[in-house]
Order: sequence, then structure tokens, then C-alpha cells
Amino acid sequence: MKQLNETEIQEFEEKGYIFLPSLFTQSEMDALTSQLDDIFAKDVISNVREKNSNAVRTSFAVQTYNPVFARLARHPRMVNPVEQIYGESVYMHQFKVNAKAAFDGDVWQWHQDFGNWHTEDHMPEPRAMNIAIFLDDVSEFNGPLMFIPGSHKWGVLDAGHDTETTSYPLWTLDKKTISSLANKGGIVAPKGPAGSMLLFHSCLVHASGPNLSPWNRRTVYLSLCAVSNHIRRFQRPGYLAHRQFDPIQCLPDDCLLSNYDVDLPWVDGIPEDELTTVK
Ligand code: SIN
Ligand code: MN
Repeated sequence: MKQLNETEIQEFEEKGYIFLPSLFTQSEMDALTSQLDDIFAKDVISNVREKNSNAVRTSFAVQTYNPVFARLARHPRMVNPVEQIYGESVYMHQFKVNAKAAFDGDVWQWHQDFGNWHTEDHMPEPRAMNIAIFLDDVSEFNGPLMFIPGSHKWGVLDAGHDTETTSYPLWTLDKKTISSLANKGGIVAPKGPAGSMLLFHSCLVHASGPNLSPWNRRTVYLSLCAVSNHIRRFQRPGYLAHRQFDPIQCLPDDCLLSNYDVDLPWVDGIPEDELTTVK
């Protein structure tokens, strides 16, 4: 069972993130990336494309219909450390693959995830952990995720709704706020081989630049929410903010390379009632 040590937990409290390079092997990542051409080729509402090209920007809820990603969603190396930090079971709030395609991958403006979830989904507390798993090597060239270390300690900051910059609307932070936080905390961009994993606090301020390189920067982002902290409002469709709050039941550690039976509830498409929304 993957457990964090004292130093890692202290680092999380101080900086708001933990970086675990090469937590997964290249063959485990290959098992996932081999699925992506088919996934990105689907003409479905859960595949959001870049504003200025047909390249997929984000593919949401892949774990509801693809068996390999469904097994990743139940991986103990990913789930156990989060349960350790929260001291309770977690459910999947959001699951997405961000493609950040070679040449075409666009920016993510500075934001905090919890700000979005609190405002849109009425998630009560910042007790949902963000996980990033690198499907490709991440370098300074292919638009690495950037953090302002320690910025989670400021709680929820005032944000404006950006519906213009990219193809995906986001509550983002203004230049003055970012300048003041970054002049104190600096900016880091954890880089490493495919298979590396980042855990980061849902109030940690983050962003990423465009990918001008010839190398994809495909990353799986999962948000694992403490079960007691489940969302209270279904203002967004279910593929953006999941509505099933059952605790994740982990599979064995070899689940990316061995076949285990998993539930694939949306294999025939997203059910109608998951698209209905309530103000
Ligand atoms: C995100 O913040 O949700 C995505 C950032 C990125 O993919 O760089
Ligand atoms: Mn984010």
C-alpha cells in the first residue's frame, strides 16, 4: 500500500503539493496512451476541443467508458495517499485527460480549482485533492503545469469568469493577485518522466502556458473528494462534476497491466439525466 512519509506530508502542508517522480512505469503509461487515439476521435460533448484547432483540449469522464482508464480511477497508488491525508474514503469528483497537444495545446489561465467547485457545484470545503499523472514526459518545453508554492494557504481568492481566452470557461485570478502571490512564493513547474504523479491542494494557484513544442503533454487529472464533502448542487452536467458519491474501491496494484472487471456505466453514451442541470 502506498503511504506518504512524514516529510511528504509536511511538504504538502507547507507547499500545497507533493511530486512523486516515476510512480508508474512506462509500460503502465503505454497501456493508457494506447487508448487515446480512439478516445480523442469520438465526436462527443465530453471531448472539448481547442478554440483555434480541432485538437482535443480535454476529454472528460473517460473512466466511465474506457476500461483501462476505469482501472486507473481505482488505482491504489493514487487513491491511498489521498485517503491517508483526509482520513476517510474518497469519490471521483472529476476525471479528465488534458491533451496539451504538440503545437496546438493552449494555455490554462491562473486559477484555483476549489474556487470553481465551490461556486459552481457547491462543494462545501477544500477537501478534494487534485492528482496529475503524466502520460508523457514533461519538460520546460511542452507547457508544464506551474504552481505558486504555499498559495493554498490563502484560501479562496476572488476570481472572474473567463469565457473568452480558451474554449473552456474558468474562474480565473487577476494579474494583481498573481503578481503579489508569485512575488512572495515564486513559481515552480515540476517536470519529469511519464508515470510521474503530482498531488496538489484544491486551493493551490496553478496555470500552464501553451505547448509550442513538437511533443504532446498528455496528463490525466483526477479530483478525489472526501465522501462527506460531496457536492450539493448539480448546476453542471455530470461529466464535469460527477453525481455518484460512492467510495472508490481500489483494485490490486497491477491493475493497469492486468485485466480486472470494472463497471463502465457510460459505455453507450452519457445518460440523458446526467445532462440535466439545476440552478
Ligand atoms: C487544470 O488546471 O485543470 C489543467 C491545467 C493543465 O492541464 O495544464
Ligand atoms: Mn485546475
